[in-house]
Amino acid sequence: MPPSLPTWFDLDPVAPFTLGGREIPGRIWTASGCFAYGLSGHDMAAPGFASPYAGIGAVVTKTVTPAPRSGNPMPRLAETEVGAINSIGLENVGYDVFCRETLPELEARGVPVIASLAATRPEEFGTMTARLQEVAGDFAHWHGIEINLSCPNVAEGGHDFGSDPGTVAECVAAAREALPGRPLLAKLTPNVADIAALARAAGDAGADAVSAINTVIGLDVDLATGRPVLPRRFGGYSGPAVLPIALAKVDQIVQQARVPVVGVGGIASAADALKFFALGCVSVQVGTAQMRDPFAAARIARDLVRAQS
Ligand SMILES: Cc1cc2nc3c(=O)[nH]c(=O)nc-3n(C[C@H](O)[C@H](O)[C@H](O)COP(=O)(O)O)c2cc1C
Repeated sequence: MPPSLPTWFDLDPVAPFTLGGREIPGRIWTASGCFAYGLSGHDMAAPGFASPYAGIGAVVTKTVTPAPRSGNPMPRLAETEVGAINSIGLENVGYDVFCRETLPELEARGVPVIASLAATRPEEFGTMTARLQEVAGDFAHWHGIEINLSCPNVAEGGHDFGSDPGTVAECVAAAREALPGRPLLAKLTPNVADIAALARAAGDAGADAVSAINTVIGLDVDLATGRPVLPRRFGGYSGPAVLPIALAKVDQIVQQARVPVVGVGGIASAADALKFFALGCVSVQVGTAQMRDPFAAARIARDLVRAQS
């Protein structure tokens, strides 16, 4: 972390800011799938932090689908020198349990939440969002929705529709109709030639922001067996190695689409986060680094605040 902030940086990362007509408590968030549902942090301690939630603007919860999913066969996460490859396969408790148990518990604990949703048909984003509105419409700490259009690991699910601007627009429009007054984010895949086209489609259909990027398709080989390390062969690559890819994709969106961007991909330090803000991101998410250190996002928020003072 530099001893003082660069002069161009004039945002307060831990102050509330407005997105989609709602005040979000801060600009440093945790990324979906990397801090579970945001409930386990209350059991964690680290010197100098009240909790892993200190200074965090939102926890983007693990993506939930209409029905529970048990995910792909093990192993489904492999570390590389500079990142991780996962093929979790969207293991999740399912939408009913999320609405009935998880969200109310998050609300009771005061955790700021952006709920991540995935579905296999565009209209399901509408029905899921409508149900969320019913259950949590008066919750103070549920701030919005991120629709996951880009998980590369679910054979019948998101990855195909995440790469087609027309389908992205359909998914966003379905959710938008059911979500008044709270921000709607569309999380985009980097595994396409033209991510800006997806961002434009999402913005035109009513997304308040796009989150970029989800994981990059990757594969690693176990030299002892000569086979891919993951049984599904491919997985989603994340961590420090993808930071320049994420920055490039974010820049394409900023230059070619008029929609706010939430930056995600390889962020592990305050300096990494600043690079996304330099390109114009309104907030950032911390993913893989949060799995290694559940206080990673809180540390980044703290380091930025310290550098400001
Ligand atoms: C183990 C793991 C699980 C993930 N699960 C999800 C998920 O359920 N939904 C989603 O939108 N992104 C998911 N992601 C992607 C991250 O949210 C993030 O977009 C990506 O990892 C890039 O950021 P990072 O390099 O900081 O991890 C997952 C990533 C990892 C490593």
